[in-house]
Amino acid sequence: MIRLTPVIANRELWMSLLLEADESELVIRSYLDQGELFTIDEDEVTRGVVLIIGEGVDLEIKNIAVEPASRGRGLGAAAINLVIDKARSQGFRRVIVGTADSSVGTVRFYQRNGFRIYGVRRGFFDAYPKAIVEDGLVAHDMVILEIAVQHRKALRRSGAGEFEEDEC
Ligand SMILES: CC(C)(COP(=O)(O)OP(=O)(O)OC[C@H]1O[C@@H](n2cnc3c(N)ncnc32)[C@H](O)[C@@H]1OP(=O)(O)O)[C@@H](O)C(=O)NCCC(=O)NCCS
Repeated sequence: MIRLTPVIANRELWMSLLLEADESELVIRSYLDQGELFTIDEDEVTRGVVLIIGEGVDLEIKNIAVEPASRGRGLGAAAINLVIDKARSQGFRRVIVGTADSSVGTVRFYQRNGFRIYGVRRGFFDAYPKAIVEDGLVAHDMVILEIAVQHRKALRRSGAGEFEEDEC
């Protein structure tokens, strides 16, 4: 069973995993204390972390990483689905995530999990202290993906004794 467990103690303890998703410790420190940090636990064993930050109608996945030995087994997809459930229960309208234009596998990962590209922040990674290079591709732009959070329709009894749909 996959669960997200809130991190109450020192978030710094998870820096090495967070660095799997974001190469700059300086950048991670700029958001480390914001939002909520969860461990991704499989049968009570921690396999990864995810940091989410809510702003307005959006819940942003700021960082998600599964330990290298546990990748490719569906833990990332399960964690994303749990984040979407959380967004729904907290009333957010979208879950968004930004990743490097060089992270082709990661973009595919999100697309396979229902996300669609909706924007690009040009030159975002040019400002990083050290160039990010993946499979010979230099990262320049941040690709932003989104998924709409479907709010379940609740059935509400109307005056005529019938049921009508009402958004939660
Ligand atoms: C992206 C990540 C969280 C996915 O977690 P996961 O548990 O491997 O995800 P799933 O098992 O549900 O899906 C695996 C898919 O993710 C994709 N993927 C993206 N980056 C990957 C990576 N570094 N290693 C393995 N798979 C990766 C693969 O395309 C794989 O697809 P496949 O099954 O067709 O080979 C995980 O690979 C990871 O921690 N990567 C490094 C950190 C990172 O890039 N985070 C995202 C930054 S926004």
